[in-house]
Amino acid sequence: ACVQLGGPTWSVPLGRKDSRTASQSAANANLPGPGSSLATLIAMFGNKNLSPRDMTALSGAHTIGRSQCQFFRNRIYNERNINASFAALRQRTCPRSGGDGNLAPFDVQTADGFDNAYYQNLVGQRGLLHSDQELFNGGSQDALVRQYSSSPSQFSADFVTAMLKMGGLLPSSGTQTEVRLNCRRPN
Ligand SMILES: *[C@@H]1O[C@H](CO)[C@@H](O)[C@H](O)[C@H]1NC(C)=O
Repeated sequence: ACVQLGGPTWSVPLGRKDSRTASQSAANANLPGPGSSLATLIAMFGNKNLSPRDMTALSGAHTIGRSQCQFFRNRIYNERNINASFAALRQRTCPRSGGDGNLAPFDVQTADGFDNAYYQNLVGQRGLLHSDQELFNGGSQDALVRQYSSSPSQFSADFVTAMLKMGGLLPSSGTQTEVRLNCRRPN
C-alpha cells in the first residue's frame, strides 16, 4: 500500500510468529488515543521498545487516511495552536454537535499520497488530531519534525527502520503463535 501511494519500499523479513487471534480491547489499551499528550505517545511507544524517534517517524503514516469528526472536534473548536484557516476548513464538515462520523483527511495537502507533507502540516499548525500536533508544539520532537518536513529521504529512511522494528514485535509470551501462510489471516 505504501509503495502504491508513492512511499518507500522495504524487504519484509519472513517467518515472524503471529498470534492466531486479535483483540480489540488489547488494541485500545496499547494504542495511544487521539487526545494523547507527547508524554503519553512517547511512553506508549516506549512500552513496545520503540524510541521517540521511531514514534515520530511512524506517526508519518498519517500522511494517508481519515479521521472521524468526533476525534478532532475539540481541536478545531477549542485549541489555540491551530492554523485559523485550517480550523475553519475542517469546521465546515465537522459541526459542533452531530456528524460524529464525518471524515476528514489527516493530511490536508496530499490526502492519498505517501510523502512528508504530514510534517509540513505540523510545522504550519495544521495537524488534524491533538496527538498529531503534540509532535510539534514546543517539545522534544520539534527539531525532528522540522527535519522530516524538509527531507523526504530522511523521513523515508527512518520510517522504514521503524516499520521493520514494529513489524518484529512478537505476541506476548504464552500466546499461541504460528507463521502465517497468508499474512492477512490466521492459517
Ligand atoms: C494557514 O495555512 C495556510 C495554508 O493552508 C497559509 O496560507 C496561511 O499563511 C496559514 N496562516 C498562518 C497564520 O500561518
